[in-house]
Amino acid sequence: MPKSPQHKWYETWFDSPHYHRLYGHRNTKEASTFIKGLHHKFGWKRLQLLDLACGKGRHSAAAAGLGHSVVGMDLSPNSIADAKKIHTGTSNLRFVEGNMLDFDLGERFDGVLNLFTSFGYFDNLSDHLAVLKRIRHHLNVDGFLILDFLNVEFSLARLIPSETLNRGGVDYIISRSFGDLGHGIPGFIKTIEFEEDGTLYSFTERVSGMDRVALTSLLAETGFVVFDTFGNYDLSDWKPKESPRLILCARALDTGFSSTM
Ligand SMILES: C[S@@+](CC[C@H](N)C(=O)[O-])C[C@H]1O[C@@H](n2cnc3c(N)ncnc32)[C@H](O)[C@@H]1O
Repeated sequence: MPKSPQHKWYETWFDSPHYHRLYGHRNTKEASTFIKGLHHKFGWKRLQLLDLACGKGRHSAAAAGLGHSVVGMDLSPNSIADAKKIHTGTSNLRFVEGNMLDFDLGERFDGVLNLFTSFGYFDNLSDHLAVLKRIRHHLNVDGFLILDFLNVEFSLARLIPSETLNRGGVDYIISRSFGDLGHGIPGFIKTIEFEEDGTLYSFTERVSGMDRVALTSLLAETGFVVFDTFGNYDLSDWKPKESPRLILCARALDTGFSSTM
């Protein structure tokens, strides 16, 4: 439930059972299809992977099931506790709590996964750059980042200003707009309101409207070069108007970037 106003929106909303109920269709099947696709497409062999902002670990578990060693990290204590309960007994999979803004796991990875719009939550560019620098710092030479973000053009064209969705007997009243997130950063603002047991709740999602050019430039600034781009979890080609996702596959460059903070 909303803790207090000084908590950031992403600390409360994603830690709530209602987030998981509302997004229940984003399930293990979707995650498994996506991870298997990447594994086969790029010929991944026993990699060390970090699933950054892993939620309850649906992608982490899929990657571990393919033989990779995976660390899933998330800010949400409830999601990490659930991930540990759900995916017990897998020696090549572990979960830790952590904040993508300042994490230091003391190890390096072959690849970092940041999936299903787990980026773009801040109202200033420097925090977004800080996250990419943290990722870069955790990568081996030649390591890669898979950044799976929303496709702004597609999402804007299909933005539904208001709707009510019933999930598990709860009516979620949803309002969406595109506007200034602060500091001149435009983005998607979604409010989710509902009543449960006589109490009214209100949560917000605020996601930056960074497009392919903006994200590619942030990546370049932090020592990455994009080597492939997909438009959905079936790894179809990216098309600006038609693709629901913007999946950027970026390689960490070895030169010209200091990974120390
Ligand atoms: C849209 S969900 C996606 C979760 C997961 N990747 C999936 O596909 O199921 C975004 C996740 O980012 C996590 N998150 C938000 N802010 C974070 C932060 N500052 N550091 C780490 N994780 C964060 C949330 O707790 C949430 O689990």
